[in-house]
Amino acid sequence: MTEKVIPIRYGRGATSPDAPWDGAPLSDTLSRPLRDLRISVTDRCNFRCVYCMPREVFNSDYAFLPHAAILTFEEIARVAGVLVGMGVKKIRLTGGEPLIRKDLHKLVALLAPLGTDLTLTTNGSALARQARRLKDAGLQRVTVSLDALDDDTFHRINDADVSVARVIGGIEAAAAAGLAPVKINMVVKRGMNDHQIVDMARRWRGSGHILRFIEFMDVGSTNGWRMDDVVPSAEVVRRIGEQFPLEPADPNYTGEVAERWRYLDGGGEIGVISSVTQAFCSDCSRIRLSTEGSLFTCLFATSGHDLKSLIRGGAGDGALRDRIASVWNRRADRYSEIRTAETARLRKVEMSYIGG
Ligand code: GTP
Ligand code: 5AD
Ligand code: SF4
Ligand code: SF4
Repeated sequence: MTEKVIPIRYGRGATSPDAPWDGAPLSDTLSRPLRDLRISVTDRCNFRCVYCMPREVFNSDYAFLPHAAILTFEEIARVAGVLVGMGVKKIRLTGGEPLIRKDLHKLVALLAPLGTDLTLTTNGSALARQARRLKDAGLQRVTVSLDALDDDTFHRINDADVSVARVIGGIEAAAAAGLAPVKINMVVKRGMNDHQIVDMARRWRGSGHILRFIEFMDVGSTNGWRMDDVVPSAEVVRRIGEQFPLEPADPNYTGEVAERWRYLDGGGEIGVISSVTQAFCSDCSRIRLSTEGSLFTCLFATSGHDLKSLIRGGAGDGALRDRIASVWNRRADRYSEIRTAETARLRKVEMSYIGG
């Protein structure tokens, strides 16, 4: 009996992932397009959130990237421009904490002319000071992380000398500058801040800002993730709904990460991001550019694809496009769909390095 040889299918139906990019929209091995770019502008942060950069690991002995290793604003803007030419419609700046990168508004000004949706995720501590100049540079919206309303819980989570009031000041300054709608991200970890779920809902109802609850994820390899610490989004919705009745709302666009719920009394909406209990890999169109210029095709990747040597080696845009196409053509990531206790223990790259 002769064995039937089944050719490996790469994106675009191509049999070779390394053929020069032909200008057709990119599509990976699971037929997912490339639409979103998340750029980590620094691997540093002034917070030490226990679920992201625990201080036992990210202390004075930790080797953060040296300045020379980090992509310059011009290099980032060049990669972003190439990716926009290949289908990217949305750019998000992340970190680490993006607002501690000096003169970040200058990067925003380089990216704004690309014409994409342009947003930023921040811990809010430096937002009040920078909101106006970020808006003037062309930033459209912001997402601010806030995990608790009382300073004790807040400090226990982020181990930083920043008050809740300061972050709320940042949220209000962003809204006043027109960086709206402001989204507020709360990572929920059982025993850490789940007692704050309903208080947070009450605080932000009717504010015009959109509160989103994120399931604690096993990103990186230092946060001691355990399934028992995850509060399923269904429980979050139930607990809030008991106080303030909710109804499901349609997604704003295909592949939206957050599932939307609307208050029946007109108090606005909340979102839940359920990477653990309801994976959303099948629509995942996100690529990440790390602080030092590597591409990652999944938040839970164990390695990336170096672009910086190409850039610093003098490669033209065509060569960058071919490299990006070959990376996307090979892409098969669906980590959250296949997560097990085993995969949770893999040595994955840290979220502060590849961008949240
Ligand atoms: P907008 O809807 O445009 O505001 O963006 P978004 O929903 O992508 O929101 P945001 O970028 O703030 O993402 C919210 C959170 O969802 C992130 O901080 C991550 O914790 C999580 N998240 C975002 N993208 C992914 C992803 O690709 N995989 C997983 N597992 N989680 C993600
Ligand atoms: N699980 C869920 N969300 C996380 N974030 C960082 N680490 C984790 C994790 N382990 C969130 C932050 C912020 C965004 C950058 O990612 O709270 O909102
Ligand atoms: Fe910093 Fe954000 Fe990570 Fe907290 S979640 S340590 S604020 S990068
Ligand atoms: Fe995308 Fe990976 Fe997240 Fe799945 S786990 S949604 S493939 S980034």
